[in-house]
Amino acid sequence: MTLESLDIPASVANREHTAVAAELMALAHQRIDAYLNSSEPTIHNFVPCDFELVDQTLGWLTQNHLLTGPNFCELGSGFGVTTLLASLHGMNAVGIEREPTLVTQANTLAGHLFPDSPFYCGSFIPRGIDDILELASEVEHVSTEEDDIYEEIGIASEEFDLFFAFPWPGEAHFFESVFQSIASNGACLLTYEGREGMKLVRKLDS
Ligand SMILES: C[S@@+](CC[C@H](N)C(=O)[O-])C[C@H]1O[C@@H](n2cnc3c(N)ncnc32)[C@H](O)[C@@H]1O
Repeated sequence: MTLESLDIPASVANREHTAVAAELMALAHQRIDAYLNSSEPTIHNFVPCDFELVDQTLGWLTQNHLLTGPNFCELGSGFGVTTLLASLHGMNAVGIEREPTLVTQANTLAGHLFPDSPFYCGSFIPRGIDDILELASEVEHVSTEEDDIYEEIGIASEEFDLFFAFPWPGEAHFFESVFQSIASNGACLLTYEGREGMKLVRKLDS
C-alpha cells in the first residue's frame, strides 16, 4: 500500500471565489475573530486554515474530476468552513469535530446557508486501527480517542473519496497513517500544511 503524491499547480491561487463562497469565508473570519477574542475557554488545538487557498484547491480538484466520487470528510472540522466550501463545490460533505463548542459554532455558520448541517461531534479515529498506540506517541495536538462516529454519520470511512485535515507542524504523518488505515484505494487526502501550502496524496494498492 502506497501514497502517490499529486502535484497541485501554483495557478490554483489565481482561481476566483464564487460570491457565496466569498460571503461564507468573510462571515467565518468575523465569527472566528470574535470567538478567539471572547472569554470562551481556549481550545488550544484549534487553529483555522487558509480557507481561501482551500476553496481554490477544492475548485481545481472537482473541476478536473480528480476524485473517485463526491463523498468528503473533514477530520477535525473546527468552525466547519472547509466542509461547507466542499458542499458549495457539489460534494456530499461532512465534518467531524470532537469539541462540542466548535460543533455549535459550525452549526451556526452552516445555518446561514445550509439547512442540513453536516457536522458530527466525536473523534474521527475509528476503533481497531493497527498501531494506534504507537501512532499516538507521534502527536500532541490530535486526540487519539477511538469512536463509532462513521456509524452515526451513516457513511463508512471506506466510502469517502476525499479527506481533508490541517495537521499541526510535524503531525502530518499521523494523518497519512490514519488515512491509509481507514480509506479505500483511490481515495485522496488533502492537507493544509501552513507555509508549505496544500498537499494531496492518493492511496494506491501497490
Ligand atoms: C488545527 S484545527 C483545524 C480546524 C479546521 N479543520 C480548519 O482547518 O480550520 C484541528 C481541529 O481538530 C480537532 N480534533 C483533534 N483531534 C480530533 C479527533 N480525534 N477527532 C475530531 N476532531 C479532532 C481539534 O479540536 C481542532 O478543532
